[in-house]
Amino acid sequence: MSLTVYAPASMGNVGVGFDLLGAALAPIDGSLLGDRVSVCAADRGINLSLTGRWADKLPADPKENIVYQCAEFFLQQLGKDEGLSLTLEKNLPVGSGLGSSASSVVAALYALNEFFDNPYDEQQLLRLMGQFEGKISGSVHYDNVAPCYLGGMQLMLDTPEKVCDAIPTFENWYWVVAYPGISLSTAKMRELLPSQYDKSVAIDFGRYLSAFVHASYRQDASMAVSVLKDVLAEPYRASAIPGYEASRAALSEIGMLTTGISGSGPTLFSVTDSLETAHKAQQWLEQHYLQQGGFSHICRIDAQGTRRADGI
Ligand code: HSE
Repeated sequence: MSLTVYAPASMGNVGVGFDLLGAALAPIDGSLLGDRVSVCAADRGINLSLTGRWADKLPADPKENIVYQCAEFFLQQLGKDEGLSLTLEKNLPVGSGLGSSASSVVAALYALNEFFDNPYDEQQLLRLMGQFEGKISGSVHYDNVAPCYLGGMQLMLDTPEKVCDAIPTFENWYWVVAYPGISLSTAKMRELLPSQYDKSVAIDFGRYLSAFVHASYRQDASMAVSVLKDVLAEPYRASAIPGYEASRAALSEIGMLTTGISGSGPTLFSVTDSLETAHKAQQWLEQHYLQQGGFSHICRIDAQGTRRADGI
């Protein structure tokens, strides 16, 4: 048996929900924005092949690859001594803020779970995804793996029963995402943040996130836009992302509703409910924000999350 799985790109934080909110992305032109992992049986050992636009940025030693480590973990846990052949199609740049490591981990664990007839249930698999992704990003936070796996916009709950749950999205919003072409390490971008915040910042953070969730349930777009503010990370990360602050100002001039950092950057996201304005923003970003190797997409939220992609 052989199977292939696709895991979409995701935006951690969505600006307002540091480590607590994340959304999966689907380009409106149908292009692929996520990694694919294929698994099939082999005689013995684990064999990992790398393909895709960003494969050459991965460690040369397969044992250092997180997908290899996911396969090793499954074989050990299930006490299997059979061989596995895996292919990682690396379609997302590493250190981009688009949930690149989450996409590889989620695709690999989902594919392995399917391959071995689903020994882990959804919540167990999600916790495993968080642990494996944490090995790369330096700490366990589910705001990329959860939306990547389950789709939609996911709010982290972290109760004993449930890691996260989906909240309603604004169906008519376009999310323009622009990856400038440089790579930033999540661990380093986390080091920029203070270890403590003022009480007033803590209150603003709680108010903005709860108001955003409230507005999402009420489907009150103008309320949602007015509170989509990042008081925890953006003030400390913005200047570490070349061109971000100027782009934010320009996108507002163009008429975008709000702009923020996707995950820990350098990808930015910008929101509008007008396709025409989205195209204008994309054009501006392509001319002014992107460097060599950068790209942009106009996206909707990907409601499906990770799925089988055999034969695609
Ligand atoms: N919530 C994380 C951060 C997302 O902003 O550091 C990055 O993976």
